[in-house]
Amino acid sequence: MGVEVSVMGVGVALRRLGVRGLWDRGLSTADMTKGLVLGIYAKDKDDDLPQFTSAGESFNKLVSGKLREMLNISGPPLKAGKTRTFYGLHQDFPSVVVVGLGKRSAGVDDQENWHEGKENIRAAVAAGCRQVQDLELPSVEVDPCGDAQAAAEGAVLGLYEYDDLKQKKKVAVSAKLHGSGDLEAWEKGVLFASGQNLARHLMESPANEMTPTRFAEIIEKNLKSASSKTKVHIRPKSWIEEQEMGSFLSVAKGSEEPPVFLEIHYMGSPNATEAPLVFVGKGITFDSGGISIKASANMDLMRADMGGAATICSAIVSAAKLNLPINIIGLAPLCENMPSGKANKPGDVVRARNGKTIQVDNTDAEGRLILADALCYAHTFNPKVIINAATLTGAMDVALGSGATGVFTNSSWLWNKLFEASVETGDRVWRMPLFEHYTRQVIDCQLADVNNLGKYRSAGACTAAAFLREFVTHTKWAHLDIAGVMTNKDEIPYLRKGMSGRPTRTLIEFLLRFSKDSS
Ligand code: BES
Ligand code: ZN
Ligand code: ZN
Repeated sequence: MGVEVSVMGVGVALRRLGVRGLWDRGLSTADMTKGLVLGIYAKDKDDDLPQFTSAGESFNKLVSGKLREMLNISGPPLKAGKTRTFYGLHQDFPSVVVVGLGKRSAGVDDQENWHEGKENIRAAVAAGCRQVQDLELPSVEVDPCGDAQAAAEGAVLGLYEYDDLKQKKKVAVSAKLHGSGDLEAWEKGVLFASGQNLARHLMESPANEMTPTRFAEIIEKNLKSASSKTKVHIRPKSWIEEQEMGSFLSVAKGSEEPPVFLEIHYMGSPNATEAPLVFVGKGITFDSGGISIKASANMDLMRADMGGAATICSAIVSAAKLNLPINIIGLAPLCENMPSGKANKPGDVVRARNGKTIQVDNTDAEGRLILADALCYAHTFNPKVIINAATLTGAMDVALGSGATGVFTNSSWLWNKLFEASVETGDRVWRMPLFEHYTRQVIDCQLADVNNLGKYRSAGACTAAAFLREFVTHTKWAHLDIAGVMTNKDEIPYLRKGMSGRPTRTLIEFLLRFSKDSS
């Protein structure tokens, strides 16, 4: 049904534009269903005309210079990220979308802390592929634009939309590399983007669907099909009790939905006993605030309060698909934060796995409560590094917005590794302070060893990080506060509006680089 509709769509589009012939010449419908996305650079000083990529140049030759001709008469040179579509130029590709790539010379920009050329390719290809999707064509061939990985990321991220629960769905467009370019890089880009899309799916899904149990099942399915070198433990409430994770349990007990402690292992190292990297993710499948209940405006966004768990688990699934020669463990405490007769009350005191007592002065600061126990447990694996990700504080969003993930770390080595990975992916990080200054504001506590609420209103992201640090003894630990990058409105041009799945690609890139450095 979807395909029939799409074929009609092309026919109508072609006829409306007065392109006769292709349809009448008895072309099979299959030929009419393919789009082509081609890149064009902005004019450099010495150029007379904007330069096509090599794929663009070849296609232009194939159609006897018609593409260049049409482009010249159809308007001013294409700006970066803009598109122009031409119909009926060639029978294999009835619709050709030319996309603006910006300057050919664009590279790493050390003010922006990203590779501008790669970002331009992601944005342009995403825009081009969406044009093809709007034409309801089920497949598209994509110009590698000089970086097949970035092009694939743009295509796969740009086309993604969560419409699982809608009766009317967007046409599923399958994107392929055009020409005989670097297929390996293209496939790597597809893998990175699919990892991020898995996180987007988990985050966007409504909380009545994406319960702790469902989340764990989806990760189990994805991890098992990624690699056989994996183990999944879906730990029930009884296990959490045995572990004496009193802090995690205090949040979970407010909800009717059973909690899960998800523990995933990927054993890619040839040395089975090699120490793992441990990733930890906040997995609040819905954060109402509990008794310190949130305002109702935009509360629906709190279905994505498991973004930490989603991004770290998706990164591990991707590492398994890449068959990286390292061992990785993922830990995700999963539960809801709800108000009820059994919920935490302000002023309650709970005990974490390491024996520290916590005064719960605000039940909406629940992320740090569940992470405290998960971080204690992370140390039992004697890991090389511990990295946690969490949609932890509204204050992080106030500080950096969606510009970058805030990284709080006790290791400059680890900071540099995360930073370098993020320059490559364009999903950026920014270092934040872990000063004693903030620690003093959380350990000054009336009833317990530590308070889950900072003494002052200021620097909420920093006091939250200082709280987590009380449960860490490892010397290579990083806490990623991803609250600000949780959603995309229109800031990242190659992501549609909705849950972003950030910074999954940066985590994958970090793991890839780590595996190369240690082999
Ligand atoms: N999940 C929220 C933080 C959040 C806010 C994430 C907006 C994404 C977007 C977290 O559990 C929370 O409510 N934090 C409180 C902490 C405060 C009570 C100390 C906050 O940021 O207001
Ligand atoms: Zn909260
Ligand atoms: Zn929360």
